[in-house]
Amino acid sequence: MPQIGLHDMYPDAAHDEQSRQNFIRNLRLHVLGTVLGGTATVYEARARPAFERAQKRRPKNAREAFNAMQGDDYAKTFSALNRTTQEMLYDTVGPSIARQLPDLIDKAARQKPLGVLRLDPSVAVPRYNARADIHCKPGGYHSEIVADDLFAGAEYDRSINVYFFGTLGRYNEDMGASVAHWLRATYPALNPKRILDMGCTIGHSTLPYCDVYPDAEIHAIDVAAPVLRYGHARAEAMGRAVDFSQQNAEATTFAAGSFDLVVSHLLLHETSTSAMGRIFKECHRLLRPGGLMVHQDGVGFKDDPFDGYFTEWLTHYNNEPFLGTLQRLDWTDIAAKAGFTRAKAYDKRVPSQQENGNATLSKKETGTHYVFVAEK
Ligand SMILES: C[S@@+](CC[C@H](N)C(=O)[O-])C[C@H]1O[C@@H](n2cnc3c(N)ncnc32)[C@H](O)[C@@H]1O
Repeated sequence: MPQIGLHDMYPDAAHDEQSRQNFIRNLRLHVLGTVLGGTATVYEARARPAFERAQKRRPKNAREAFNAMQGDDYAKTFSALNRTTQEMLYDTVGPSIARQLPDLIDKAARQKPLGVLRLDPSVAVPRYNARADIHCKPGGYHSEIVADDLFAGAEYDRSINVYFFGTLGRYNEDMGASVAHWLRATYPALNPKRILDMGCTIGHSTLPYCDVYPDAEIHAIDVAAPVLRYGHARAEAMGRAVDFSQQNAEATTFAAGSFDLVVSHLLLHETSTSAMGRIFKECHRLLRPGGLMVHQDGVGFKDDPFDGYFTEWLTHYNNEPFLGTLQRLDWTDIAAKAGFTRAKAYDKRVPSQQENGNATLSKKETGTHYVFVAEK
């Protein structure tokens, strides 16, 4: 299990708080390792044969495989356990962050600014973010209760370590680091001077771009102020200069042609079909000719319909309503409608930077990051 990377803004945990968080992490490992693993056996032994008896054919896609499992007692047990574990994650981490919130706000105010934080209260939280607590995170990324609130960001930093058990790296940097290193190796001539990370949350994936492209100006945007406040303070604490601003990726205030590289990590699955089209259009507007748009997201393997079972589960029961649709969209078509050339758009899986010692998740589920790339 990788060590957690500490920094001056990282919320602490008292003995009992840490103990409860360890319990949730281990419960999650058990539910996602052993219990989820058993759903494949149940599918082959009971659900698929029952589907075939009724339909006289095999399930042909993830939705059919998922529906075939609905009603099975084992699937219901997995479902109840995983949803409860997710709710317990926030019930456990939340009060610990609330206890230290005034100190964290104070600490953030005392960071010496390397980068910039620009908040704009007129930026509306899109409906696809506001209508459900994404991932069951109470209040989502955007809710604010006190002045200079950064609860949502601090809670995200601590809860993601319980959620991913460190599989995304000590600083949860693996998605950004993997994409950035792959880009530098694959496009040596790109040499970006200005990079934009859309939907940055607290900058887990943004900061690796500072290291891989030390001469570039790094910008990061999000619609949610509390995660930006924490992300800015975290970047300062970690000695990285980033220009964070509160903006909607569908329509930013940046000048046309002002970026060499526009990236996102796990943004798109939290949007909508129409928003995704507008985000691709905005990327096209922001890029200079020859610039690159790169979106990394949770697009699963499709070798067998059952490969999509867990993705469908997350869509239905983990408040990630767009995740299932995202798997089925034609990204090249969306890019073409946004102005990109079909021949210069492709997808691939980028190797993970971090050696993954976690045996509970298969190589299929971790270790490679799906990216969609389009060159202007
Ligand atoms: C799963 S998080 C992204 C994680 C982050 N990129 C990382 O790699 O750690 C999705 C983020 O996208 C933001 N978001 C959703 N829609 C957005 C939009 N239209 N414009 C900007 N940010 C958006 C949310 O507020 C949230 O912080």
